[in-house]
Amino acid sequence: MEPRPILVAVAWPYANGLQHLGHIGGAYLPADIFARYHRARGNDVLMVSGSDAHGTPITVRADQEGVDPIDIVNRYHPEFLRQWDTLGISFDLFTTTMTENHHDVTRSIFNRLRERGYIDLRTTEQMYDPEAERFLPDRYVEGTCPHCGYPRARGDQCENCGRTLDPIDLINPVSRVSGATPVLRETEHFFLLLSKLEPELLAWLESREGWRRHVINWSLQFVKDGLHDRAITRDLTWGVRLPDDELGEGKRIYVWFDAVIGYLSASIEWAQRSGDPEAWRRWWEGPEPESYYFVGKDNIPFHTVIWPAILLGHGDLDLPTNVPANQYVTFKGEKASKSAGVGRSVLEYLEVVQPDALRYALASVLPEQNDTELTDDEIVRRVNDELVAVWGNLVNRVLSMIGRNFDGVVPEPADPQAADTELVATVDRALDEVAASIEAVELRAALRAAMSAAQAANAYLSDNEPWKVVKNDPARAGTVLHHALQAVAGVNVALSPYIPFASASVAEALGVPSGEGWARTEIPAGRRLGALAPLFSKLDSPLFGDDT
Ligand code: MF3
Ligand code: ZN
Repeated sequence: MEPRPILVAVAWPYANGLQHLGHIGGAYLPADIFARYHRARGNDVLMVSGSDAHGTPITVRADQEGVDPIDIVNRYHPEFLRQWDTLGISFDLFTTTMTENHHDVTRSIFNRLRERGYIDLRTTEQMYDPEAERFLPDRYVEGTCPHCGYPRARGDQCENCGRTLDPIDLINPVSRVSGATPVLRETEHFFLLLSKLEPELLAWLESREGWRRHVINWSLQFVKDGLHDRAITRDLTWGVRLPDDELGEGKRIYVWFDAVIGYLSASIEWAQRSGDPEAWRRWWEGPEPESYYFVGKDNIPFHTVIWPAILLGHGDLDLPTNVPANQYVTFKGEKASKSAGVGRSVLEYLEVVQPDALRYALASVLPEQNDTELTDDEIVRRVNDELVAVWGNLVNRVLSMIGRNFDGVVPEPADPQAADTELVATVDRALDEVAASIEAVELRAALRAAMSAAQAANAYLSDNEPWKVVKNDPARAGTVLHHALQAVAGVNVALSPYIPFASASVAEALGVPSGEGWARTEIPAGRRLGALAPLFSKLDSPLFGDDT
């Protein structure tokens, strides 16, 4: 089969704080599992993202600390890189929206949409703080959500109902700068003419197949509620400048207009770094490329409506194949909220939990259709009772029995019985099942299928008791272990997108390639196996022992 070009586009985290486990389960881990699977399949994966450096999430934080916005980004961007490295999130490029390339690409998309009549300049009224004497874009205003009544809605989006907002929509608005009640004042802004693109967007959304129900429903509703033209510039001094600074120093392009363009600019930056500056086109042009956008549910409208609108306005670039957005992983502590995980960063978890173990626990509760809940005790249970007890134990038993009884050399499959070949067939079927589920971005189901194959291998060992049989019938024990080992090799492939570090160690001990090919490699009789340290350590509860 020809390699398929697959763009794995992952939400750009605001570089204004460390991430918690919910972020990882929401977007980064599923994206990485999907990317690793496709790489193993031999497809051409391009996985990009970066630090979202602009907008009021960054400037509000900088104001609070009395530092420059760039200092905030420069503090968190390296932490993100360290986090991806430790957790094994395998970006081809994780850049930032501060690069010259990104600013240039953003302005060129802006110009193109303007030329094609999808952007125009208007005089509008915006919130203005009469005490601080400044405009108050987005998060500089808080108030009551006009849709759901949530009293602390932000000017850009309501955290409670998820709807996107404009500060002037808020009921009882308050300036976060001075606490004053904002007034309206005229100012000039560029607008993206979503109303003009609405029919095309609706037709496109209605023709989507295989999208998650909550994603397509939310998106269709968003468009059917009526698409209003949206301001895509702000009264700010931090962000991407307009071409020729057309509206003067105090205006910048809106963060949500530039951030989504990051997927494209990062692809271009990756191509430039790879030495073939045009290579990005393979993932963006024509009927062949597939693109998957991994985002949390609060980002849905930006990826299923706004970004597609920009792409339609551009005219020559591909729209998303799928936006497999996740709902939320929530954390409920057994004790106070301090131990509930909400406040703890991923990097703190990685000090007490192995990367693969954390990946496993999160993957088993991915909120693909509904919100899911995770507690520290649930992490401990998933790791000890599933990852260690089922998979770690299987690998360990098979390799140590071959070590002890056959001097570490793979025994002959003398005279196989139906149960022996059936086990291997079960594992091969599981590989197909896992593949089908991952293709459909049903990553939890895929993990369950892989783990059932591991359980089948454990059951096979219990049924055939090679540790007993070896005393009287070493040839039969050898046959059982030979087949169990083939099962280990197959399950190891199925689990490789989920637990890549352990999977690489197992592959090395078996003498097979790692992360290449989506099929079980036959381990021949007579091969001497490599040494393998225990794959995982059991976790103690509570995870954070010092917590009182
Ligand atoms: N920074 C946004 C957030 O954290 C996500 C931006 S996704 C992007 O919610 F693609 F638009 F950058
Ligand atoms: Zn609301």
